[in-house]
Amino acid sequence: MRKPFIAGNWKMHKTINEATDFGELFVQKLKDEQVDLSKVDVAIFAPYIHMSALKVIFLLRGIDVGAQNMFYEDKGAFTGEISPSMLSDLGIERVIIGHSERRKYFGETSAACARKIKAAYTHDIRPVLCVGEDLEDREAGSHKDAVRKMLLDSLDGVQAVEAEFAAVAYEPLWAIGTGKTATPEQAEEMAALIRSVLAEKYGSKVADDMIIQYGGSVKSTNIAELMAKEDIDGALVGGASLDAAEFAKIVAFDDSVKKESLKQVSVKNVLKKDN
Ligand code: 13P
Repeated sequence: MRKPFIAGNWKMHKTINEATDFGELFVQKLKDEQVDLSKVDVAIFAPYIHMSALKVIFLLRGIDVGAQNMFYEDKGAFTGEISPSMLSDLGIERVIIGHSERRKYFGETSAACARKIKAAYTHDIRPVLCVGEDLEDREAGSHKDAVRKMLLDSLDGVQAVEAEFAAVAYEPLWAIGTGKTATPEQAEEMAALIRSVLAEKYGSKVADDMIIQYGGSVKSTNIAELMAKEDIDGALVGGASLDAAEFAKIVAFDDSVKKESLKQVSVKNVLKKDN
């Protein structure tokens, strides 16, 4: 059984004060939503400078803080970069690798992603590898080939044990920040394709255990139908993760992640209705 993994990618948003206000409110909102954090993995991928403050707020509360990028070298003359050992020194256990905005604006290649995934593994940092086609590929009908290639290139030389440690996020570029979500059927088709490519490369045992997220205009109003799909195990949420109440609603996408007491109440209500 794969455990759902709902993560927020804040991108380049929020001041420290806004981040800590979010953190405190988010903890409260998850309680209000009756979320049982043993049933769902939750993470915020925050800007580097917010990570320590958020970790203090989320300490022992079952909410992870991750980084949005890292370099593959451990140290050296790489001005402006952050290394995996710096992240693990801070207690960071998750990192996004190869987000489309990094590929597009900062020239990140799939070959660099593969090196980063290997480096993350050696520091016990779990990567979320992002792949997705652009609108041109989607309209030309070459989206499956594009995603297959991006996935295989980003995992080039990555061993099964290293891949197993990672999650993959399918994020079609045409759905990011556009308000245009892929339909659950489109998202599932691509998640299933990703799992089949992983199975070809690593065998079905590894592929079946890997978490595949969907990302692109996820909101509290569309998360349940996406999560209902067989190969979609979670979401990587951009804009909607900036709002604590909205993001808590996304995490509480259905009763399976809520506290047992809530479920008992709803079962009682159903029984009452039936009698
Ligand atoms: P939006 O949810 O804002 O479309 O962003 C998706 C994304 O890029 C998450 O990594």
